This record gives sequence, C-alpha cells and structure tokens, in this order.
Amino acid sequence: MTSPLNDPSARQDPLILGIESTCDETGVALVRGNTLLADVTASSMDEYARYGGIIPEIASRAHLESLVPTIQAALTEAKVTLSDVDGIAVASGPGLVGSLTMGVTAAKSLALALGNPLWGVNHVIGHACVDQLVHGPFPEKVMALVVSGGHSSLLLIRDIATDVEELGQTLDDAAGEAFDKVGRLLGLPYPGGPHVDALARQGNPHAIRFPRGLTAPKYKDTHAYDFSFSGLKTAVARYVEAETDAGRALNVPDIAASFAEAVVDVLTAKTLAACQRHGVDTLVIGGGFSANSQLRQMAAERGAAAGITVRIPPIRYCTDNGAMIAALGSAVARAGVSPSALTIGVDSSMPLDVITV
Ligand code: KG4
Ligand code: ZN
Repeated sequence: MTSPLNDPSARQDPLILGIESTCDETGVALVRGNTLLADVTASSMDEYARYGGIIPEIASRAHLESLVPTIQAALTEAKVTLSDVDGIAVASGPGLVGSLTMGVTAAKSLALALGNPLWGVNHVIGHACVDQLVHGPFPEKVMALVVSGGHSSLLLIRDIATDVEELGQTLDDAAGEAFDKVGRLLGLPYPGGPHVDALARQGNPHAIRFPRGLTAPKYKDTHAYDFSFSGLKTAVARYVEAETDAGRALNVPDIAASFAEAVVDVLTAKTLAACQRHGVDTLVIGGGFSANSQLRQMAAERGAAAGITVRIPPIRYCTDNGAMIAALGSAVARAGVSPSALTIGVDSSMPLDVITV
C-alpha cells in the first residue's frame, strides 16, 4: 500500500481523519499531531426519547445517512480536502454491531480509494486519548476513568498507543445506565442522567444510605477496581416502594442526591485507590457521565486531597465524538503502530487492552 506515512517527515505530524459510529453519534474529526482541526457530530438521540432507549436499527440507518455529509462538513471546517489526509482511524469496537459496521465500511472505502493506511481503534481508549487535544500530552503514566451510558472502565495507561491495561469495569450496569434506570423509576424523561443530576443538586446526599457495590472487604482481592450498580438500583426501587406503601411522600431530590452520592463515592474511591496503588498522579475522566456534577466535585476534592491532578475535557469531547478517534489514530500513527488490514471486522465487545486491531 502506498502510504504517505512511509515518509518519516509526514509521520511526525500526519493528518488523520477519525470516524466514530459506535452508538448513536456519527462523529468525524481531523487531527494533526495533538491539534484538532475540525470536529463534527450528527446524532440520532432525539429519535429515542419516545422509546426510552436506543434502537440499534434506527441508529444504523442514521449513520448511513449522516456519514458522507459529516465527512464533508469536517473537511470544510478543517479547510482541507481528502487528498490532504494521511491516514484514517475508525472506532471498530466496542459498540453496536450495525452502527460500528457503518463507520468501518466508510473508513475502509476511504482508505482503499485514497491509498491511505487505516487503523481500527478502541472507542473506550479514545475517550481517554481525546484529553491530549485539550490538556496536552500525557505524562508517563495516567489513570483513566471512562464512564458513560455504555461503559464504566478503569484503565492504567502507560503508553496510549501501545500499552493500556484494564484494571476494572462494571459487572452489570454502566454508571450512566444506572442513572437512566433510576430516572425512569422516578418518572423522569429519557435519558434520565442529567435530570437525576439536576434534582440531586437540590437534595441531601446523606439523607439515605444506599449500598456501595463491591466495596466489602471480601471483594478486595477479586474486584478491587470493578464496579456494580445493579444492586444499588434495586435498593432505590425498594426504598421508593416501601415509602409509597407506608403512605409517605417521596423526597425525590433526597433520593436522587443519595443515589448519586453512592455511585460517585464508589467511582472516585476505587479510582483514587488505583492511582495510589500504581503510583499514578494524573487522572483523566471521560465519557458522557463525566458531565455529572457530583462526580466532578468529588473527583476534584478527593483528587486534590490525594495530590492527584484530575483532567476532564470539556463535555463536548466527553460524549461520543470524532475527535477522540482521530486523536487515538494520530497517537498510533506517530508511534509507528502497524495499520489494520482492510479486511477487519467490527468487535462489539472489543477488549480494553486492544488499542488497535
Ligand atoms: O457518552 P454518552 O453521551 O453516550 C454513551 O453512553 O456512549 O453518555 C450518555 C450517558 C447517559 O446514560 C446519560 O444519562 C449520562 O451519560 N449522563 C449523565 C449526565 N449527563 C449525561 N448522567 C448523570 N449526570 C449527568 N449530568
Ligand atoms: Zn462512548
């Protein structure tokens, strides 16, 4: 394959086009080095409010329709043409199979037509990598907490292009998913996360003591850095039921605040313990759930107390976007990682130590 990246000077700062289509967002971005030149996102989220959840079939069709216009808009925004592009990066997992297939097919077509190298990269690792576009290159070791409606993962990053270790993940619901389910329980619109957050800010986080999943001493060796939120969600449901049965009026802000406190307490406690255990002094938080105000506040407070620098990119780079994929493509291209074959498939449950396919 003729690749502009065979020329070492181009490899210093290749122009990478990144495509994200793992869920309901179609994201396309252009990155040179750690500089973001364009980032355009189309979303089909508005179509799901009436269903109370994402419908994969609708998401795939939306990607099919939005991909070409989104690529064109990103090129225009960056003031470049396709012939300027040195390499293509695409999220090839984890995510919804149909959605992933749309982005990977578009990326392969571009790579084939342009004679460019293609990297199929890990979406979750992209959530951490994008922070480099905002706050600069990572130090030698970084801890990343990636939290959204689909993931809650704790990653130890020794080199974002070549060495990522998964320390823990959720065994059931993701943090955002737990918020969405509790939102539904409390009669709030989908997605419930931001609504629960808004209510929680008016409530007392210590009003009700909800359980902290996987924090008992017996889990110290087996699940020190794993999360579980489904027991907590059940505890909230039982509490609501018991209060209703007893004829007491629900204090919804207190329920929301106490629930949020339980989620965020566990996320931050385990993450900071992992930082200390592995001698890491920089924590990056990414994923759509990092918009959560309790998480931001507790991570800042506990991070400061532990001497750990907490980096959270602006929210538009925390929700799914093309910049995170272009950023990771840029990192692997500059590190000289071999491109993926043009025969790659998609991996809906891509392991989190796989950076590129
Ligand atoms: O990353 P994202 O946009 O989509 C994926 O899940 O990949 O994350 C959306 C998730 C939803 O579950 C949403 O309810 C949750 O993040 N979320 C929040 C807040 N903002 C978004 N949860 C709690 N508090 C928020 N402020
Ligand atoms: Zn995501």
